[in-house]
Amino acid sequence: MNSPTPLPTPRYLAAEAVVAVLLDGRSLSEMMESLPPGRERAATQDLAYGTLRRAGRLQFFLSRLINRDLDPPDLIGPLLVGLYELDGSQTPSHAAVNEAVETVAQIAPRARGLANAVLRNFIRRQAELTALAEADPIAQSNLPPWWLARLQRDWPQDSQAIVDTLALHPPMTLRVNTRQSTRDDFRLTLSNHAMPSEITGECALTLERPCAVSVLPGFAAGTVSVQDAAAQYAAPLLDITDGMRVLDACAAPGGKTAHVLERHRVALTAIDSDAWRMRRVRENLDRLGLTAELITADAANPAAWWDGQPFDRILLDAPCTGSGMVRRHPDARWLKREADIPQLAKLQARLLANLWPLLRHGGKLLYATCSVFRPENHDQVAAFLATHPDARREPLDLPGADDGQLLPTRVHDGFFYARLCKD
Ligand SMILES: C[S@@+](CC[C@H](N)C(=O)[O-])C[C@H]1O[C@@H](n2cnc3c(N)ncnc32)[C@H](O)[C@@H]1O
Repeated sequence: MNSPTPLPTPRYLAAEAVVAVLLDGRSLSEMMESLPPGRERAATQDLAYGTLRRAGRLQFFLSRLINRDLDPPDLIGPLLVGLYELDGSQTPSHAAVNEAVETVAQIAPRARGLANAVLRNFIRRQAELTALAEADPIAQSNLPPWWLARLQRDWPQDSQAIVDTLALHPPMTLRVNTRQSTRDDFRLTLSNHAMPSEITGECALTLERPCAVSVLPGFAAGTVSVQDAAAQYAAPLLDITDGMRVLDACAAPGGKTAHVLERHRVALTAIDSDAWRMRRVRENLDRLGLTAELITADAANPAAWWDGQPFDRILLDAPCTGSGMVRRHPDARWLKREADIPQLAKLQARLLANLWPLLRHGGKLLYATCSVFRPENHDQVAAFLATHPDARREPLDLPGADDGQLLPTRVHDGFFYARLCKD
C-alpha cells in the first residue's frame, strides 16, 4: 500500500509562492487566498511576505553563493526562503538549513547537496556578504533597478528616505465614522480594548499594533473602517457642501466614496470598471449604512452611463502603479514593469480628458494617485493644464506635501493630490 502523500509544509508553500511571484508574475494575495485559513496559512504568509520584502538582498546573496543557473529554476523559491530564515528570522540556523534542504529535495532530490552547500556557505560568509549587500544599491533598497532609478530621478533629495520608509512594516490606520462617533471618543474605546493609537488626521487613528479587522470594536456596526491616513485627505480636499452632485470615477473598493458620504449629504455616483471590485463597494456601504448610485462601467466612456447632468465635484482616484503604498504588497515591486508607467499614464490622461466635460463651470476635480512617480502625478497634471485652458490648479492645504505629493512616512503611504478648478 502506498503511504499517504505528506501535506505541503508552510516552507514548501512559501517557496511555491515566491516562485509564482518572481518567475511566473502571479500575485501573492491570489496564492495566499487559495490556502485554507489557520496556523499553516499564517506561517506560510510570514515566510512568503518576509522573503519577498527582502528579495533584492536575498537574490544578491544567492548570486554570490552560486555562479550558475539553477536547474530547475524553481529552486530559487526554497533557497530564498532558506536565506531569509538565516538572514532575517528567529529560526535557529540548523533548522533553517534542514528545512530548506528538505523543501529543495521535494522539488529536485538531486539538488539536496547543492542546497546544503549554498546555505552552509552563507552561514560561514554571512558577515562578509552582509557588508557587501549593504554597499549594493539594489540589495540595500530591495527594489528592482528601474524602480530605484526612477525614485532617484524623481526625488533626488528624498530617494534614500523613501527607500528606508518602504522597508518598514505598513501602518494600520482607522477612519472613524463621524456619523457614529468622534475620533477622540473612539480613541478612548480603543484604549479600553487595550488598543493604543496615535492621532494621524481629522478622523484618523493609527494603531500601535495592527490587528485583524474582526477584533476592532464597532467594525461590523460601521463605526470604523481601515483607511490609510494619506488616503483620508481626499474627502476634505474635495471641498464639498451638502446637496452637491458628486462623481467618484474610480471608486472600488469604496474607501473614499464612504468617507465622502460619512461627511456630507450628497448625491453620489460611484463608478468602477471592475465588477468584482464593485461588489466590495456595495459591501462597504452596506456595513456603514450609506447609499450611492453604483455603476460598473468605463468611466472614460461617459456616453455609456452619464445622464447629461453636470457634476459639482469629481474625484478621480486614478489607477496607478501604487508605488506610494508598495510596502503593503511586498510582491508589487517584483510584478510591475517599467513599461507600466507610460501605459498607466495614458489611461490616466484618457480618464482626465473624458471626465472634464462632465464638471460644471466653477466645479472642482480632485486628481489623486497613490504613486510617487512624476509621470503619473506632476507631469500628468502639467500636460492636462497645457491642453485645457479652462482648468486652473488650486493650492491645497496639505501639511508635509511637496507640490501635492505626500511621500510615504512611518504613519502614511505616498499619495499625490491636485485640485483642478473649471473656469
Ligand atoms: C486606486 S483604485 C481606487 C481606490 C478607491 N478610490 C478607494 O478609495 O477605495 C483605482 C480603481 O480604478 C478602477 N479603474 C481602472 N480603470 C478604470 C476605468 N477606465 N473606469 C473606471 N474605473 C477604472 C480600478 O478597477 C480600481 O478599482
